[in-house]
Formats: sequence, C-alpha cells, structure tokens
Amino acid sequence: MQVIAFHNLKGGVGKTSAAVNIAYLASQEGISTLLWDLDPQGAATWFLSGDDQQIGKKLGPLIKGKSPIGDFVQHTPYSRLELIPAHQSARNFDIKLNQSNAENPFKTWLKPLSEETALIILDCPPSLSELAEQVLKTANAIYVPVIPTWLSLNSWQQMNAFAKDQKVKPKRMRPFFSMVDRRKSLHREIVDNRATALPRALTTAIPNASAIEKMGEHRKPLELIDRHGRAARAYRELWLEIRAKLKL
Ligand SMILES: Nc1ncnc2c1ncn2[C@@H]1O[C@H](COP(=O)(O)OP(=O)(O)O)[C@@H](O)[C@H]1O
Ligand SMILES: [Mg+2]
Repeated sequence: MQVIAFHNLKGGVGKTSAAVNIAYLASQEGISTLLWDLDPQGAATWFLSGDDQQIGKKLGPLIKGKSPIGDFVQHTPYSRLELIPAHQSARNFDIKLNQSNAENPFKTWLKPLSEETALIILDCPPSLSELAEQVLKTANAIYVPVIPTWLSLNSWQQMNAFAKDQKVKPKRMRPFFSMVDRRKSLHREIVDNRATALPRALTTAIPNASAIEKMGEHRKPLELIDRHGRAARAYRELWLEIRAKLKL
C-alpha cells in the first residue's frame, strides 16, 4: 500500500482538484484507491459523492481507538474508488492528534486498509499544523501544487523548510505547477525557468482551465466531463508521472 498526499499551506491552489482526478485515474486503471478528505470544507467529498449526500462520521472514535478505520470508508459511484468523507470534527484534528499517545497515529490507523487498498490519497487542508506533520511522516510522497507567482513560490519554500525540519527526505516533496495561465507573462517566465524557480518540479503543469471549475457543477472527475480537453490531458500526464514513482 502506498500513501500520497496533496498538500500546500496555501488554499485555492488546486490540491483537491488534483487529488480527485488522480484518484479517479488510478482507480480506472484497476488500482484499488481510497481518497481521504481531510479538509473539513469537504470539497473532495462533494466531487466524489455523486448525487448522494455523503455524510462523514465524527473522527473521535477513530482517534480514541474505539472504531477501526474501515467503519469510515464509503463507496463512490466509481468502481475501485472509495472515500473517507470529510467531517467537521476534522477541524479539531490537531488538538486530538496532540492528545494521542501513539508515535505515529496516522500510520497506525491506515495499516488495516492495506489488505484491500493499494493506493491512499490524502487531500489535506491548507496549513502547517500537527496534521501536516503527521501527513509528512506518513505519505510516501507529498505532491504540492504551486501557482507560478512569487507568493506561491514563497509558500513552497516555507513548506519545504517545514518538511526539512520534520526530517522529510527532499525527494519525497514533489512540487508541480498548477493553474498555469500562459497569457500572463509572470506565469510564462516562472514556468519557462522552472529549473531555477522550482527545481525538482514535475514535468507536468496543470493549466488554468475553466473545465476544471465545472467539476463543482457536475460533481464528477474531469475525465467524465471533458476528457478531450487540455486540462484532462494534463491530469493524465500528471498521473503517469505519479504512477511511475509509486511502488505498487
Ligand atoms: N487548474 C485550474 N484552473 C482553473 N480553476 C481551477 C484549477 N484548479 C482548481 N481550480 C478551481 O479553483 C478553486 C480551488 O481549487 P481546489 O482544487 O479546491 O484548491 P485547494 O484544494 O488547493 O483549495 C476551485 O473552484 C477549482 O474549481
Ligand atoms: Mg482542497
């Protein structure tokens, strides 16, 4: 079982859009995939619950060791793709994680899933909190969407410094450009100078595309809305890069 996370201390950079589309593409390849929506805002839950209203469960019993993680897993409309829906109680995750006695509670919780799940995708809330620390400790790779602006590059530097503090091996932190608008000279300049602006960036850059915004309206992965568009193509390329680095 491999665990990957989409994370950034900034919100609105394309974490959830990437997590949902990558989870869908993985599952369609026959990889049993689980997406855990860790953001109490529940955007990934909204995208993946089809017409159902997925109601997440309180995480308290999981944290206290009273309920196994399997109790929180729900089906999605898609084969081999399961979801742990968001719940408001995730807002207090940080306090609760601090109270936990386990050295790495996240790893302990996820372990029982390994029999049935090949890939776990964590869609993280924007912060550098105790939860972020746990995610960095647990995930085999952390994918970080970065908008090509100076402010976003600065957030990436902060995340990277935080990861370094947590003794995360640099190659586990994997940035990629997100929401790239090549009509903007700054975006072009930064992406074209990626070797200096964002060393270690993946080759794929996700374009700024209105098709991605439509996911919210249709509540479906992009592949099912606009599979011939450039944004869907970019997510397929991103998935190929991610898959190449997974040990499945
Ligand atoms: N590449 C993109 N092009 C255009 N809009 C995007 C793109 N990626 C995300 N969005 C939109 O931006 C908003 C935030 O995206 P989201 O994936 O939820 O970011 P995050 O999880 O980092 O907060 C959403 O409304 C989404 O539809
Ligand atoms: Mg999000």
